[in-house]
Amino acid sequence: MEGIEKVCQFLDEAQTYYLATVEGDQPRVRPFGTALLFEGKLYIQTGKIKPVSKQIAANPKVEICAFKGGTWLRLAGELVNDDRYEAKAAMLDKMPSLKAMYSADDDNTQVLYFKNATATFSSFTAAPEVITF
Ligand SMILES: Cc1cc2nc3c(=O)[nH]c(=O)nc-3n(C[C@H](O)[C@H](O)[C@H](O)COP(=O)(O)O)c2cc1C
Repeated sequence: MEGIEKVCQFLDEAQTYYLATVEGDQPRVRPFGTALLFEGKLYIQTGKIKPVSKQIAANPKVEICAFKGGTWLRLAGELVNDDRYEAKAAMLDKMPSLKAMYSADDDNTQVLYFKNATATFSSFTAAPEVITF
C-alpha cells in the first residue's frame, strides 16, 4: 500500500478526525469525517458557507489529528480547493450520507486536497512513521 493510501484508510477506520485551522492568531478545531483518495490525492469535504471554509481560504495551512487502536495520526499540510464537478461527485459517491445535505452541482459543496503534506503515525510503543505526499 502506498503511504497516502495508508493515511486515507486510517482516517476511514478512525471514522472521526479533528481538523484544525487558524483564524488570525486563534486555532480552531472541529470534528470531520470525510476522506477520499481521488486521482492520487487525499480530499476532504466541507461547505463553503462554514467558517472552516473561510478560514482555509484565508490560510490554507491545516492539521488533522485522528486516533485509532493505540495509534494516532497527525497530518499537516495545505488544502487546495478543487471546484470540479467530478471531484465533488466522487466524494458524494463514497459518502452517500452527504447527499442529504449536498450535491455536486450546488453552490456550497467544497472538496479540497492536501499538498505539501506530512503525515506522522505515532504510538507509545513504536518509532514514529513519517509519510509525505
Ligand atoms: C463525526 C462528525 C463528522 C463530521 N464531518 C464533517 C465533514 O467531513 N465536513 C464538514 O464540513 N463538517 C463535518 N462535521 C460537522 C462540523 O464539525 C461542523 O459543521 C463544524 O461546526 C464546522 O466547523 P466551523 O463551525 O468552524 O465551520 C462533522 C461533525 C461530526 C460530529
